[in-house]
Amino acid sequence: MARRRQLYEGKAKILFEGPEPGTLVQYFKDDATAGNGAKHGIITGKGVLNNRISEYIMLRLQEIGIPTHFIRRINMREQLIREVEIIPLEIVIRNIAAGSIAKRLGIPEGTRLPRSIVEYYYKNDALGDPMVAEEHITAFGWANPHDLDDMVAMSLRVNDFLMGLFAGVGISLVDFKLEFGRLWEGEEMRIILADEISPDNCRLWDSKTNEKLDKDRFRRDMGQVEEAYQEVARRLGILPEAGNGDLKGSETMQ
Ligand code: C5P
Repeated sequence: MARRRQLYEGKAKILFEGPEPGTLVQYFKDDATAGNGAKHGIITGKGVLNNRISEYIMLRLQEIGIPTHFIRRINMREQLIREVEIIPLEIVIRNIAAGSIAKRLGIPEGTRLPRSIVEYYYKNDALGDPMVAEEHITAFGWANPHDLDDMVAMSLRVNDFLMGLFAGVGISLVDFKLEFGRLWEGEEMRIILADEISPDNCRLWDSKTNEKLDKDRFRRDMGQVEEAYQEVARRLGILPEAGNGDLKGSETMQ
């Protein structure tokens, strides 16, 4: 196959030019970073798992009417997506205190929040993705109030749906991060869900034991990172119950 033109390389993914105008190929790497790149490692098989988990979740979200950039999975590490203009915001939804909110506000990790909390971060590596308010977003023109309302409404729907989906397989959705992009269709612009939804950007805890099944295992040097991602995939019914032979042969399929 002819080598695709690389457009962008991020910490966990690479974007290539797609086969048709308006499409891109999103390639999932095994690289993991934490602390805005301060820590780097390889989680063998992570890219394959995240490609599958994100595909599964994006398809379920499309079924309930959430527009997403996902078109179809191409192979074990790549998916075809719609090209969008990424809005430079990370929208974080929290149901249970963990990570930065626990630290910043002194709330013990694991405390159920009185209601789901929405936070905004400005997507800028050089600044370490600082938290921002609606005022900054609209004043600096990253999104207008209407677009922001749209993103928050979609994020809350995603949260409600995913809380149920994960609860059904014995997992608590603690928090997660979403990114959105603008899709231009002639003069019309729509905001659609972009990036990925995987254990790299969700906190997922076993409902009974609170065992962490997400990237915090890497961030906190807890070990068994790949196993945790596999467990999420298995519970969602993406991986067969036993073994991961499915994954090991995958590298030849790229
Ligand atoms: O670190 P913090 O507690 O703010 O993270 C909240 C949620 O957002 C976590 O699920 C984390 O995985 C996700 N996140 C992310 N990318 C970032 C920051 C946070 O996916 N740059």
